[in-house]
Amino acid sequence: MLATNSNHRIAFFENSAPYYDFLLSLLTFGQYAKFQKMAVEFLAPQPGEKILDLCSGTGRVASWTARAVGSGGEVVGMDISQRMVEWSRKRYKELEKTQFLQKDVTQPWEYQNHFDGIFVSFALHELPEEKRLTTLEYSFLALKEKGRIVIADFHPQVLGIGKMTLLVFFKLFERDNLNFFSFDLYDMLKRVGFKRIKTFLVLAGLFQITLAHRSAD
Ligand SMILES: C[S@@+](CC[C@H](N)C(=O)[O-])C[C@H]1O[C@@H](n2cnc3c(N)ncnc32)[C@H](O)[C@@H]1O
Repeated sequence: MLATNSNHRIAFFENSAPYYDFLLSLLTFGQYAKFQKMAVEFLAPQPGEKILDLCSGTGRVASWTARAVGSGGEVVGMDISQRMVEWSRKRYKELEKTQFLQKDVTQPWEYQNHFDGIFVSFALHELPEEKRLTTLEYSFLALKEKGRIVIADFHPQVLGIGKMTLLVFFKLFERDNLNFFSFDLYDMLKRVGFKRIKTFLVLAGLFQITLAHRSAD
């Protein structure tokens, strides 16, 4: 339901769908795609696997993943923004076994014990604070027993000048998501039941890539 997110954040994604990737490339001097690619390497999608791209935006990461899993695999992208979903469907219509669903991921999912991997990039901080835990719980249930999740996002616990930089950025562009600074991803993943949680810091600790598994072995 749209009402759970800040409406003007969703409106931003609706309006920027056709040029979102270009805009982000421009603003980050090309680093955005590089960071996404690095995060996908942590997921390491294999031929034949079923992968979910949570809050898939323009569908670019889902398209890379679809090529990695091949025709024996399956990729699902989920996003609340109708125009992001339409754009993804149009742009990647040639991809086999890839579907983009318009869905509010904070609401119950139909998938249980289905995916080998879930990928979430720059999306957890967009979700309403009280819904992040629930969304991680849905992710846990949607994974197969040996499944894994990779979450790439800002690192709210960064210290010193990094913290100041992130705070200024959030105050300018992400004011609605300032509560993300009190979000402890490691703790949340543990509470949900994830095991073998590893976090890798990137770009002086401003960003983090977290890999977690559903099972202990
Ligand atoms: C910052 S963009 C990131 C998109 C993509 N993952 C990437 O790395 O470029 C955040 C995306 O989350 C989506 N989103 C926000 N809240 C959502 C929700 N409750 N359910 C599904 N998608 C949501 C937005 O529509 C947007 O496409």
